[in-house]
Amino acid sequence: MIPGAVAILGGTGQQGSGLARRLAAAGIHVVVGSRNPERARAVTAAWSGAVDVAANGAAVADVDTVVFAVPFGTIDALIDDVGPRMRSGAVAIDLTVPLTFAGGKMPAVALACAFKTVPAHLLDRVDEPLDCDEFVCGDSDAARERALALVAVLPQLRGVDVGPLSRARAIEQLTALAVAINRRHKRHDARFRVVGL
Ligand SMILES: NC(=O)c1ccc[n+]([C@@H]2O[C@H](COP(=O)([O-])OP(=O)(O)OC[C@H]3O[C@@H](n4cnc5c(N)ncnc54)[C@H](OP(=O)(O)O)[C@@H]3O)[C@@H](O)[C@H]2O)c1
Repeated sequence: MIPGAVAILGGTGQQGSGLARRLAAAGIHVVVGSRNPERARAVTAAWSGAVDVAANGAAVADVDTVVFAVPFGTIDALIDDVGPRMRSGAVAIDLTVPLTFAGGKMPAVALACAFKTVPAHLLDRVDEPLDCDEFVCGDSDAARERALALVAVLPQLRGVDVGPLSRARAIEQLTALAVAINRRHKRHDARFRVVGL
């Protein structure tokens, strides 16, 4: 068990790698989970901060916060694989869509969604502040608080608590809207800021 550490499954990918590097730069101990740790070690070799690499199953067994940053279509199989190895009381943070955990496959794990709307290429520019809001929802206060705390470590990213996990659908619609805005206006950096809050 690594106290305070965050595992990012898919941390070698587009969205996961920027997030992993930003969290590590902010002083979080990051464990990059991968199907191929050897390849992941090569990917992460030049990253600064406390960054470990492990196979996905080993990564989740060592931490209390697990970010799922893999393609949506691969989530179910990954949950089947690593779910039983997650620690009781851990929080899973989903970047994709709401996960459904089949009964009995996982210990008591809480679920939150965060980092769904911030674009990967902005996350990747680790030295630039993100300068936007990020929406967080979850199935419990504890899950939301854990995700909001992770958002808060990234400079100039404000977490906005939008309530229950069912709001994940609305957040995903905003991601689709940002993509449409980018296309229509020939931009790449559309993202969100809530006013009046
Ligand atoms: N790109 C964006 O701007 C953006 C913005 C918001 C949300 N998202 C969401 O972030 C998630 C990841 O997107 P991405 O563009 O970062 O994806 P990606 O680069 O295609 O893949 C991320 C990582 O997932 C792992 N992976 C791939 N196939 C897998 C499989 N079959 N089983 C388990 N792991 C697998 C790979 O890591 P290993 O090979 O090391 O295992 C890969 O590096 C998506 O669900 C997307 O909807 C993306």
